[in-house]
Amino acid sequence: MMNDVENIRAQFPGLKRDVAYLDNAATTQMHQSAIDAMHAYLSGGRSNAGRGLYPVAEETMKQYDAARSTVANFVGVDAGRCVFTKSVTEGLNAIAFGLRDRLQPGDEILVSVFEHHANLLPWRRIAKERGAIVKTMPMTSSLTLDLDGALAMMNDRTKIIAVTMMSNVLGTVLPIAQIVDAAHQIGALVVVDATQAAAHLPINVADLGVDALVFSSHKCYGPAGIAAMILSPDLIDSMEPMIVGGGMVDRITADDAVWRPGVEKFEGGSPNVEGAIGFAAALTAMAPPPYEGGGRGEVSRSRLITDLKSIPGVTVFDPPGAVGIVSFVVDGIHPHDVADMLGQRGVCLRAGNHCAAPLVEKLSLNGTLRASLAVYNDERDIEALVSNVKEIIKRAKI
Ligand code: ALA
Repeated sequence: MMNDVENIRAQFPGLKRDVAYLDNAATTQMHQSAIDAMHAYLSGGRSNAGRGLYPVAEETMKQYDAARSTVANFVGVDAGRCVFTKSVTEGLNAIAFGLRDRLQPGDEILVSVFEHHANLLPWRRIAKERGAIVKTMPMTSSLTLDLDGALAMMNDRTKIIAVTMMSNVLGTVLPIAQIVDAAHQIGALVVVDATQAAAHLPINVADLGVDALVFSSHKCYGPAGIAAMILSPDLIDSMEPMIVGGGMVDRITADDAVWRPGVEKFEGGSPNVEGAIGFAAALTAMAPPPYEGGGRGEVSRSRLITDLKSIPGVTVFDPPGAVGIVSFVVDGIHPHDVADMLGQRGVCLRAGNHCAAPLVEKLSLNGTLRASLAVYNDERDIEALVSNVKEIIKRAKI
């Protein structure tokens, strides 16, 4: 399916040769098949989903259901566990909201130091409401999760472990299976943020046994505005929905309502049908996944690290086993200034704390430059980045 890089690049009409697009952890370019699938749906005549009884509405519902199955299957579960949300942030907020009643004063929620704010702030908020405590699982000096330290923090007060599968700053891959094993022995739930991992690592929710997992379409070559919230059968049945309104009510009385069973309970409001269709088409185009060398883009990542490390004045963060992302800093020049100069030279990457401020503070930095790779990046993108970083350093010295 996806092999030769020029063949791959031709499948992404947003890619231009005068730009080295290395900001894929923020958002990827969209796959042609996602554009085509949305175009076909929208130009075929659309309707709302789950509401109309006429043929166009039935066809829309069929396509929406099929998209749900495809997205669910991509991470190894069936459609009955896959809720569509507008973003991973919304999904994580919905999970934190839905689990808040399970927390008593003094209970503990563990997060890792690698968390994006989206998998930190919802937990801090419910902890505050419920008198619970958020604790941070530490990092080793080689920038991986300190698993022994994390395991030592788990006890009978631990109720939820909310953890990323892959750092959006460093590319570090976290040992989810070991965390799940330990968590389930003490009856804690595990919520996984797979936003970055979904485009780089194979994920099987059923095998991992996680209780909840979220990932988004726009970081997997699909449209923005749609993400998946995968819940265990128990959470599908027992969790309270954060969003209430149309489309999720079974019966309503003068002062109460009964929610629909299954995933519909969590999808109040008109669904993003075209988004779901585009999401599913993008994932279909990505599969079957040639996850070379441990992650997509891994070959280019090694080259990028070697080349950046060879530049005097550049420090590269290179955790063992990391995939897809390389953070670095340039001595004496603020990351924002470097990113700005790179941008003017056609190299697109992100600089700053990447919405993961606790991690960047832990590294005693005011930010990093972050190059993030996708299936379509090649040696030319890396050469553009490396040669321009060299040029910027040279000019700064003049
Ligand atoms: N979460 C996205 C990033 O890491 C936006 O850049």
